[in-house]
Amino acid sequence: MKAHIVTLPGDGVGTEVTAAAVAVLEAVAEHYGHEFDFEQHAIGGCAIDACGEPLPGASLAACRKADAVLLGAVGGPKWSDPNAPVRPEQGLLALRAALGVYANLRPLQVHPALAALSPLKSERLKGVDVLFVRELTGGAYFGAKTRTADTATDECKYTVAEIERVVRRAFELARGRRRQLTSVDKANVLETSRLWRNTVQRIAADYPDVKVEHQLVDSMAMLLLSHPARYDVVVTENLFGDILTDEAAALAGSLGLLPSASLGDGYCGLYEPIHGSAPDIAGTGVANPIGAILSAALLLRHSLGLEAEALAIEAAVARVLEHGPRSRDIGGHAGTDAVRDAVLVALADQVNTGRAFFSGVRACG
Ligand code: NAD
Ligand code: IPM
Ligand code: MN
Repeated sequence: MKAHIVTLPGDGVGTEVTAAAVAVLEAVAEHYGHEFDFEQHAIGGCAIDACGEPLPGASLAACRKADAVLLGAVGGPKWSDPNAPVRPEQGLLALRAALGVYANLRPLQVHPALAALSPLKSERLKGVDVLFVRELTGGAYFGAKTRTADTATDECKYTVAEIERVVRRAFELARGRRRQLTSVDKANVLETSRLWRNTVQRIAADYPDVKVEHQLVDSMAMLLLSHPARYDVVVTENLFGDILTDEAAALAGSLGLLPSASLGDGYCGLYEPIHGSAPDIAGTGVANPIGAILSAALLLRHSLGLEAEALAIEAAVARVLEHGPRSRDIGGHAGTDAVRDAVLVALADQVNTGRAFFSGVRACG
């Protein structure tokens, strides 16, 4: 198949991990006889430096024409002055809104070989396999903002339509998994959460085969640590989803491991690791590229319909996590390029021998 992929490496480690993910996609194209062409554009701080805008018109226009968009990360200390008139993160939010990618899938699995890196006892991590579905284009991120010398507000607004489309997506995804949906809100305090809960309750009638539970976000933050294996699909609003998924990443061993897929109603999705530009390690060549590489696998699955290729990447990554080399954040000494190369070798072995290296590998997302 032919596919046109726009890459937006962005800032900091975004450029390093995106390069690794592109190398893996190029290898997939070669092994499976596909033609992927890549077009790179600017977003974030580097775009502000180049043309004063975090999402230049040319970048957005290219994304709108692409089959899929692969993004690294945006932001960094250079652009973090709270008084700055324009910020890198605005570019990412504008892109998500413009592409209409309201459902952000963030799968979490804990590889058994990494269980010892988690702050939790290994026995609590057995069988952890959660798919977070984070609403991505609404809530406090996109509400009106006000600021005077001594007051600031961020409006948190949701419409029924915005809640319904992401919740239906979560129910559908639960049907392909263990048929359990946990909806997370703060309905004891927030009006938006009460609308969210009412909407989930109404839609649940259309999915009688899916078991639904409601959980308040504060207790969910605790339950994720005490009983992570209990959860299958977790759906929640934008800000809660942002926070809970960084928490969940600690269970996997590192923020550098988690991928994401942001989907709307079309095929053009936005794929990015959940981590940021990691200014503390940017430029040193030690960033873990696995979150970005697994995001490329999600791209193949969700935008290009290439399930076997996505599984091949996931199996190659699982083999590297098991046998090494490992990057520093997960207890090893390997740099970004060495991890990338190991994934490329595992992928080639897998394709050439047709052997499944990790029989426990499942489709994530
Ligand atoms: P961060 O995710 O960049 O880093 C948090 C910690 O995780 C750091 O110690 C970092 O070294 C580590 N880490 C992150 N990715 C890693 C990787 N691939 N390999 C190894 N270690 C990794 O979060 P932060 O420091 O709070 O934010 C830095 C900047 O990134 C901010 O400007 C923020 O707005 C931005 N950010 C962007 C995105 C995005 O573009 N999607 C996501 C989160 C944060
Ligand atoms: C993420 C990031 C972004 C978010 C920021 C950089 C706008 O933290 O993708 O998780 O909060 O959505
Ligand atoms: Mn985040």
